[in-house]
Amino acid sequence: MKRILLTIIFAAAALNAGAKNITVNTPNTTLLLTAEQDKAVYVQYYGDRLEDASQAVNAQIRKTPAYPCFGYGKEFFNSIALSVVHSDGDLGTDLRYVSDSYNEKDGIHDWVITTKDSKHNFEVDLCYRTYDNCDVLEMWTVIRNGEKKPVTLEKFASAALPFRQGDVWVSHIHGKWASEGYLTEEPLNKGVFEVSDIACPKNAFLNRPNIMLSLDGKPKENSGRTVGAVLCWSGNFKMTVNTNFESCHYLVCGINETGSRYTLGKGESFTTPALAMVYSNEGKGGVSRNYHRWARLDGKIHNGQALRKTLLNSWEGVYLNVSQDGMERMMDGVQALGGELFVMDDGWFGGKYKRSVDNCALGDWVTDGEKLPDGVPSLQKAAEERGLKWGIWIEPEMTNTLSELYEKHPDWVICNPGRDVVCGRGGTQLILDMSNPAVQDFVFKVVDDIMTETPETYYIKWDCNMEVYSVGSSYLSADRQSHLYVDYHLGLIKTLERIRAKYPDLVIQNCASGGGRINYGLMPYFDEFWTSDNTDAEQRLFIQWGTSMFFPTCAMAQHVSASPNHQTGRSLPLKFRFDVAMTGRLGMEMKPSDLNEEEFEFARNAFSTYKEIRPIVQQGDLYRILSPYEDHGFASEIIVAGDKSEAVFFAYKFRQYANQQDWPVFRFDGLDPDAKYTLTELNRINSPEAWEGKTFTGRFLMNTGLELKLKGVYSSCVIKCTEVRN
Ligand code: DGJ
Repeated sequence: MKRILLTIIFAAAALNAGAKNITVNTPNTTLLLTAEQDKAVYVQYYGDRLEDASQAVNAQIRKTPAYPCFGYGKEFFNSIALSVVHSDGDLGTDLRYVSDSYNEKDGIHDWVITTKDSKHNFEVDLCYRTYDNCDVLEMWTVIRNGEKKPVTLEKFASAALPFRQGDVWVSHIHGKWASEGYLTEEPLNKGVFEVSDIACPKNAFLNRPNIMLSLDGKPKENSGRTVGAVLCWSGNFKMTVNTNFESCHYLVCGINETGSRYTLGKGESFTTPALAMVYSNEGKGGVSRNYHRWARLDGKIHNGQALRKTLLNSWEGVYLNVSQDGMERMMDGVQALGGELFVMDDGWFGGKYKRSVDNCALGDWVTDGEKLPDGVPSLQKAAEERGLKWGIWIEPEMTNTLSELYEKHPDWVICNPGRDVVCGRGGTQLILDMSNPAVQDFVFKVVDDIMTETPETYYIKWDCNMEVYSVGSSYLSADRQSHLYVDYHLGLIKTLERIRAKYPDLVIQNCASGGGRINYGLMPYFDEFWTSDNTDAEQRLFIQWGTSMFFPTCAMAQHVSASPNHQTGRSLPLKFRFDVAMTGRLGMEMKPSDLNEEEFEFARNAFSTYKEIRPIVQQGDLYRILSPYEDHGFASEIIVAGDKSEAVFFAYKFRQYANQQDWPVFRFDGLDPDAKYTLTELNRINSPEAWEGKTFTGRFLMNTGLELKLKGVYSSCVIKCTEVRN
């Protein structure tokens, strides 16, 4: 704290006369802004921490506007963050520096730079936040209308940043159902690169609101200057990098303005979502580890430091065929395996319409008395008797045309006025209008009723299986229809805040047909996410790798399922399936009774092993090593405890080539080079390797590594490293 303050004072005194230099520091990085009374605020530098900020000014690095506005002055490019139609119809905005402030509390540092338009009573605060425990820099704005009449925000991005032009590559994550979270990397050529989405409320299936820029050529895992950009928003988003300028790639990120023009009445304000930046010299891995720490330690994932329980989810075991007996048989199975939690998925509810087909009953959250005559509380008791926690599935933002809820409240759904409804899943699914406070109350009550009927409920799986196909709100006035996309998410967050205020310890999983909603707009309210509906262990290597670029292991739900796999039809050994699932929050998604005796014994041991390594896996630092995307048919990673005294290394072989030429050496990473570690293979099915029980230095393991005998396709190896302290 002292160091940061001194830096600011020094910077203010020593740098260009007249201009104030505002130094926004994280432990290892600096954002340098320059501000002069009645002039625009500029970004002068973002990179390695500068103890002497005057270097960036003296080097005359070209500065760019911190929040470029449309319509006035020589500096508005075709890459802008803010575009406003002022109350008199004026399209130009010209923000000038007015004042700034700095505050620190409990290791969180906040800077606010206030700017004001040179003609209108219209203000924008540029806000910056950093943390003592990671190199994340959050940037957002607060836009205030002091004009006499409403203004319209045509574009209202969160922030803009320049990066010097060069051999810069972008890494981004994209996909579709059962194939989400895939990583693509490409050079930034001239023109505009964009990742965006308008699939509200499932904003993270096709493209995710997070990218990395590798500034030193082709992206590397653990070296090279690398920047991360994450938009903390669960609605429509847009992230662009404009490479038309001479000196820089220009990044602008924020809410996607398509269909989202936003009106601010006199005296109203709008806060844009935070853009969370990371700069690291340790490649993509360094950027990821910073986001993971920020997520766990700074509340960006709910209850980020708590250890997550192992579970069995009923979905792939029985799908909608829920029954009292079936649930209890599955509970018996997970109890015998040593699991800790049982979750009943879709299919348990429905009054007039019964959820035996996926085309009805969403919204009618009453127990189906034919399937579950003793009710949900009796199932919770049955779980408790077996020493298991209890969890249940809901999809509270949705309804079906075949539901009592829709019959009663047809005006609660999102639908283009005067047109037919356009339905999703089952030909009947519709989205409830979360901009409507009555709907917000209803959604809160869905959770509240479950918790009232069964207060011991430990876990809720919150699903969301539809995109908006027909835009329109019966609640919003005609002149505010374009607020729907934004107000949906503000309404959802308001509801989640209410739920969290009343149920802070309830574990809630974020699911959207799998990973359709994995974003940092929602994760502060959720403990974990369902990584994908695809549980095939080979494809999961790719999906989990891509997802881990921005999200920590503790949040990634990874379930072992049946073989052949229900999504791909592929048959994989149980050991491989467990070894892949054990790098996140381990669970199962099948009938345990489908395992034969030998498999059951393996699974029982694997659960017990996982519980032993859980603190390392869920709270350690992830180092990705051999990428499955590099097409040699191998993958490996290591998760290292914070104090480096323990680690778990994972290696997989998932392709088979005759006389393979490029057999990799399995090098470790992230260990203390001078420490000595004893190696133990976990989930072992063959006779011990030569290195079993032997001791090696971290340096040896990282520089020389092991020649693992991964024989045959779908073989895998998990090795625990335990520091020997003499
Ligand atoms: C989609 C989810 O991703 C699945 O895991 C399952 O919960 C189904 N919905 C249930 O309808």
